[in-house]
Amino acid sequence: KYEKIWLFFGIGSLFLFLTIVGVSAFAQGNQPPSCLTTIDPEKVDQTPPFNKPGLVKTGDNEYQLNIVASAFAYTPNQIEIPKGAKVTINVTTKDVIHGFEMVGTNVNMMVEPGYVNSFTKTFNETGEFTILCNEYCGTGHHLMTAKVKVV
Ligand code: CUA
Repeated sequence: KYEKIWLFFGIGSLFLFLTIVGVSAFAQGNQPPSCLTTIDPEKVDQTPPFNKPGLVKTGDNEYQLNIVASAFAYTPNQIEIPKGAKVTINVTTKDVIHGFEMVGTNVNMMVEPGYVNSFTKTFNETGEFTILCNEYCGTGHHLMTAKVKVV
């Protein structure tokens, strides 16, 4: 007779779970993360904004930082960001998969050919950050770095 109670409890929690997932997905619009932007890896140099990589001001204290990764460098590889700037980093690659890790921060992306990956971060303190590639991409992998200065 206790089995019935447990069975009821089990089915009840299943429905509760499905209801929560359903409400979260449809009513609140929660979706799994997705790569929204695609790009032709052979035409990165001609495709805005990557035809002019670098920091672009987009609003009051808001910036876009567009970076092209290729074996074995980032373009640009010396970047200055004003303190307090909210920066959306967009990064893509012309060839193989690279990594994009800003050491000591929560910026850590995989850079895949054909896609643009983005991350927004506000830089509230001055300092220097090293960007490095954390996906093995070939013989020059260990040389693949860039510097960000927050001034
Ligand atoms: Cu690029 Cu490793």
